[in-house]
Amino acid sequence: MRRIAQETINRVLEEVDVLDVISQYVDLKKRGQNYFGLSPFRSETKPSFSVAPEKNMWYDFGSAQGGNAVQFLIEYEKISFPEAIRSLAEKYGIEIIELGNKEQNNLYDQLYEIHELACIYFENNIKDKPQGKAKKYLTDRAFHDDIINKFRIGFAPDGWDNLLKELQGKFDNQILKKSGLFSESKKGPLIDRFRNRIMFPFFSLSGKIIGFSGRSLSEKEDVKYLNSPETLLFEKSKIFFGSYQTQPNIRKKNFAILVEGQTDFLRLVEQTFDNVLATSGTAFSSKHAVALKKYTNRVILCYDSDSAGINAAIRTSYVLLQNGIETRVLYLGNGDDPDDFFKKDSNTKDTFRSLIKTAAHPISFIIKHKDILSQGAADQSKFLNECIGEIQLVPDSMVRNDLIRKLSNELGVVEAEVLDRFSSLKQKRYKAPVEGDSSTTEVTHYRSSEDKAQLELIKLALHSPELAPKMPIALFSNKLLYNVLKVLIDNSDKGYKPGQILELIGGSSEQRNLIASLAIEVPDKEYEQTILDDCIATLERNPVKKEIAILRDKIRRMEEEDTSPDKALLEELSALQKKLQ
Ligand code: UTP
Ligand code: MN
Repeated sequence: MRRIAQETINRVLEEVDVLDVISQYVDLKKRGQNYFGLSPFRSETKPSFSVAPEKNMWYDFGSAQGGNAVQFLIEYEKISFPEAIRSLAEKYGIEIIELGNKEQNNLYDQLYEIHELACIYFENNIKDKPQGKAKKYLTDRAFHDDIINKFRIGFAPDGWDNLLKELQGKFDNQILKKSGLFSESKKGPLIDRFRNRIMFPFFSLSGKIIGFSGRSLSEKEDVKYLNSPETLLFEKSKIFFGSYQTQPNIRKKNFAILVEGQTDFLRLVEQTFDNVLATSGTAFSSKHAVALKKYTNRVILCYDSDSAGINAAIRTSYVLLQNGIETRVLYLGNGDDPDDFFKKDSNTKDTFRSLIKTAAHPISFIIKHKDILSQGAADQSKFLNECIGEIQLVPDSMVRNDLIRKLSNELGVVEAEVLDRFSSLKQKRYKAPVEGDSSTTEVTHYRSSEDKAQLELIKLALHSPELAPKMPIALFSNKLLYNVLKVLIDNSDKGYKPGQILELIGGSSEQRNLIASLAIEVPDKEYEQTILDDCIATLERNPVKKEIAILRDKIRRMEEEDTSPDKALLEELSALQKKLQ
């Protein structure tokens, strides 16, 4: 993707109205100068999400996050900064000027194009051959045209160079190699990676093809599903199959059904359970959980009901719980996966619906399927310790307590015993903070009167930028707030709204959220001057207090050593004390 010119970014920040953007996602009501609504990031009953049109900013009191329209899209759609700028520019008719490293842009553009052309080629192999074996296979498995078209399912015919012939000459061999669609072999430097396979494309969140999974049509083939390797476009550890298509449904229903693979996914969509996501197989990473949380914090796991699926469901449950996701496990039984389940005439949508309703709490699921209750005390004790080890990694104390309670109830062990082990067992694994997870960012606390005065002043300057130059920046001891004030002073005559200033300040999400929280509060215009004076006085006084403390300390030590403090010191002290009065 090409880099976007600063000019375009500035125009988006200046022209796009945060209220207009957010109103499309959140129902907002005016209260005072600001607007309030239910947070789109958490489920809540009392509106704590606010928008300040005057500042062109929003702030979510519940999650202590905030920012401008661009940040809103980044958080809500879970897209990158350039993607958010592009999307807003397109929507509000702002011309996107692009620049940057030509070769790099070219590489990404070409990789996307290769995938798109490959996808079209695979699709046509089905469309053009309605009598062919691929179409027959899909029909036999009851995957119909609407599903085939919506998910752009295709076919890679047998042979070493079918796709290669389609693309060679249009792209450099080096770039073809980087696409992951070809491999090297004795047969040639580049051969088709996918041969004789039904092709399922993976989409990026903006709908571009980024990789494939191919289901072999040959029974002899030992790899049933072959996936694209890790490439510049395809990052396996956080990709779900189908998320581009089902993400809006997941948001709407506020839960996701998580399945193992493409065919299970497609079967559920076909049966109108369209809030589904699939991993490729059962490998589920913390990154998946973080990606999932962008749509919902409730998941129903519906893995294959064979022993591999059960074990995977247990592992995935722990990862989900440890990432703050409410989890239930739906067990189909008979070794079925969702696709097998719906092959049976006795199973209907209603049967599945009631299984969703009665899906098990992960702790119950684990105890039942590991058959813990029929084991001896020693094994039960070992299980208890293992389970506690996992629960210790759950960050939310309410969820932890719920899990402990559940564990003690189901096992019939008194809660005190579980709690006792909980505190005596050392936490074994350290959970590294997951990138992009705002709940793990450290929040600085502003406690001292000096810090508070600096916060008040920034709030004032955000509200009335013309006051910024009057503030004593030299007395700002908090580095973060110092930087913010510096930017505010430098731009005080430009007529920027805080939403724009935010981008000039840059910095961490902590910084951005703090500024948003300050911007959302409206200081009383009437008292502006008083607040300004009071805060400046506090800051001016504090260095004096520090000096007094140092002097007192010196004097005390002199007295301890029986040397009487000299007159000059005492005079200095009384002069400073006078300053405070
Ligand atoms: P399954 O073997 O359960 O696949 O693996 P399935 O969907 O039931 O297969 P069908 O019905 O025979 O076509 C579940 C998922 O694990 C991944 C695939 O994403 C698959 O859908 N998988 C499986 C692989 O990536 N590689 C494999 O060799 C097998
Ligand atoms: Mn399966």
